[in-house]
Amino acid sequence: MNREIRCAVLGVGRLGYRHAVNLATKVKGATLTAVSDALPEVAERVARELDVPTWSTNPDELIARDDVDAVIVVTPTDTHAAFAKRVASAGKALFLEKPLTLDLQEAGEVVKAVQQSGILCQIGFMRRFDPAYAHARNRILAGDIGEPLYFKGISRDPTAPPVAYVAASGGIYLDQSIHDYDVARFLMGQEVTEVQAMGSVLFSKEVATHGDVDQALTYLRFGNGAAGDVEAYRNAFYGYDIRAEILGTEGTLVVSGLQYHNVTLLQPRRSSYDVLPGFLERFSDAYVLEMEHFIDCVQKGEQPTVGVRDGFEALAIGTAARQSYRAGSFVSVADVCAGVPVNAGGASHV
Ligand SMILES: NC(=O)c1ccc[n+]([C@@H]2O[C@H](COP(=O)([O-])OP(=O)(O)OC[C@H]3O[C@@H](n4cnc5c(N)ncnc54)[C@H](O)[C@@H]3O)[C@@H](O)[C@H]2O)c1
Repeated sequence: MNREIRCAVLGVGRLGYRHAVNLATKVKGATLTAVSDALPEVAERVARELDVPTWSTNPDELIARDDVDAVIVVTPTDTHAAFAKRVASAGKALFLEKPLTLDLQEAGEVVKAVQQSGILCQIGFMRRFDPAYAHARNRILAGDIGEPLYFKGISRDPTAPPVAYVAASGGIYLDQSIHDYDVARFLMGQEVTEVQAMGSVLFSKEVATHGDVDQALTYLRFGNGAAGDVEAYRNAFYGYDIRAEILGTEGTLVVSGLQYHNVTLLQPRRSSYDVLPGFLERFSDAYVLEMEHFIDCVQKGEQPTVGVRDGFEALAIGTAARQSYRAGSFVSVADVCAGVPVNAGGASHV
């Protein structure tokens, strides 16, 4: 019989709380033994609600505990590198939210720490586990669209995140478009070699104080000559709008869906449905499925299908995009990785 994997969640804010609930109530083979948050009232409330025996404001205390086998890092992005390295030194399994870090040098250090310690590591690219994206990938692998030639990704949030979140997020290319960069690699089965990015502040003036934009477009070129584009917008208002298209030589796949409940209201001369309000609703299944995969891998001692190297590659594309937005020209992904030990991370999973 498989052993129970004892988990600690670091950071129980918007997404960490969802991971904690899933681990405590839905993910087979997992036991939530500890939670941490910088805000003691938040950590204590979540521990009480989910019947978790240990809570702390000090993540290091939890990483070191004997009754913790796996650590799920869902703290702000500017803390990821430090926690990931500490989990690696403790020899525990690591689930690390995207993006890997804010900076490629730091990301290279995380890749090295993970590889040298031999720990198991999964990155929180949950779209790969979403049934629609996973189905699209299977259709591509089955040859249903021939050779994939063009990728289009759209990610529109209903409203911009709080300014404090933006400050620690790395900006729209690293924080939001990174999901599409990963999915582009996953669906096209190719590495992105160069990008050209543009962006504007259309609505949220305050993001500009952090050098960020609220609307971004990234043109992608892949190693085999295929191409793509990724659009991101922070203020769609109508809802959470996530789409992808893959154009191939023999067909096109469209991943879309704005509808929240499977109910349509029919009225004279019009019909309507309610629109997905946010990421927690759109990807609720994916958040459970990615965590089930992580726990299954820990139980079997196998590396997850989306690892630290994938986190690095997506961050490299985002870093090139951010640089391109500033420079106004194409930027090569290899150039932004110059001097970083990118080959140290083992297999990537395009
Ligand atoms: N995969 C996804 O779909 C997805 C969605 C949202 C966020 N994220 C990622 O998850 C991370 C967290 O995002 P969020 O939206 O939940 O942010 P959040 O601000 O809602 O939550 C972060 C929590 O971490 C706590 N915290 C801050 N510093 C800490 C520390 N040093 N130790 C322990 N706790 C600390 C905060 O008090 C807060 O409760 C970010 O890296 C973000 O990029 C991923």
